[in-house]
Amino acid sequence: MAVLVTGGAGFIGSAFVHAWCSRTDEPIVTLDLLTYAGNLDNLSTLPADAKHRFVHGDIRDGGLVRALLEEHRPRALVHFAAETHVDRSIKSADAFVSTNVAGTAALLEACSEHLATSGRNARTGFRFLHVSTDEVFGSLGPQEAAFHRASPYRPNSPYAASKAAADHLVRAWHVTHGLATLTTHCSNNYGPRQFPEKLIPLCIARAIAGETIPVYGDGLQVRDWLHVEDHCAALRAVLERGTPGATYLIGGHGECRNLDLVHALCTALDEARPDGAPHARLIRFVEDRPGHDRRYAIDASSTRDELGWSPRHALLDGLRATVRWYLDHPNWIERIRSGAYAAWVKEQYGP
Ligand code: NAD
Ligand code: DAU
Repeated sequence: MAVLVTGGAGFIGSAFVHAWCSRTDEPIVTLDLLTYAGNLDNLSTLPADAKHRFVHGDIRDGGLVRALLEEHRPRALVHFAAETHVDRSIKSADAFVSTNVAGTAALLEACSEHLATSGRNARTGFRFLHVSTDEVFGSLGPQEAAFHRASPYRPNSPYAASKAAADHLVRAWHVTHGLATLTTHCSNNYGPRQFPEKLIPLCIARAIAGETIPVYGDGLQVRDWLHVEDHCAALRAVLERGTPGATYLIGGHGECRNLDLVHALCTALDEARPDGAPHARLIRFVEDRPGHDRRYAIDASSTRDELGWSPRHALLDGLRATVRWYLDHPNWIERIRSGAYAAWVKEQYGP
């Protein structure tokens, strides 16, 4: 058997592929379009004997997806591919609707068609794991209980709305077509190989370069941070032991205000790189993000109780290790920031 992963050259998808290849010989196939956020450097350190295949392509290409399903007959599809940055979705939502909504619909359609024509049982022979986000639940007040399974959908950004639409499509395919779907809602991830537009790698990359660190608004927004390896462990548990049709919330009890997080990163940088200290001198308050969600928090108790999963990384230790990773991989950052990586992709795969 094999598993098919979409978006496996991105931040979380590549962490999932790495963890998969270090644990099992079961083949894993990555389908990724290599948008600005996809990065083959993220997969370049897989062990030489890893049973991994990379396919350059678009989840919206139903013919390609059906061909991959027919060729590999995977037991599962893990769907990471998406446009993921809230600020970009505010500037223009087109790519978000196209990839996150139409792309997810195209994948679901291709899976149902493949299962119908290949005689495989949609309920028992195949699993579709949809990686969604906590942002579909909107924003919490300071004293409100954390998001839980029954939280209502209240997406506030175009990104969150596009993920919510995808979630509804996944649910519909389960109810109408009997597809064995699983949906996860995870909080903010951090760790190695995250594109340096997201808060943590952006702060680290800019601070290393001696550039200012932009904090939106008053910096008192709260996010619930989870190490990407803990997220991937939860996804493996959901894939193997989750109940079809169910949703799973994934979070690390890592609630932290943005300003505190940025200061923690600066302290970690001061320790690892004393010549640039104090890095906190680079912090600047800048204009807030429109529609900025104030607080996210996750109640992951049902995921823990049902699947026996719990996070292993404590936030401060995880942040220190993450700072270390970016300091140890200057070329990874430099290739992105200089545009050299994008130029290489264009040369290999066309515009
Ligand atoms: P990312 O932006 O780092 O990577 C996205 C990947 O999808 C890239 O490799 C990109 O090339 C690929 N892709 C985009 N459009 C595609 C298309 N049309 N066809 C094929 N591939 C395409 O994203 P990430 O942060 O790794 O997030 C992965 C998933 O997890 C997303 O669905 C996101 O909504 C969800 N999620 C992310 C977080 C987080 O904190 N980053 C938290 C919860 C959920
Ligand atoms: O909660 C899960 C979501 O987390 C994922 O679904 C998204 O794909 C992922 O991008 C992330 O969304 P956020 O908007 O929370 O992440 P981001 O890193 O963009 O911002 C984190 C917080 O930091 C947020 O409150 C905005 C703030 N911020 C962000 C940037 C880029 C700043 O203050 N300054 C910045 O420069």
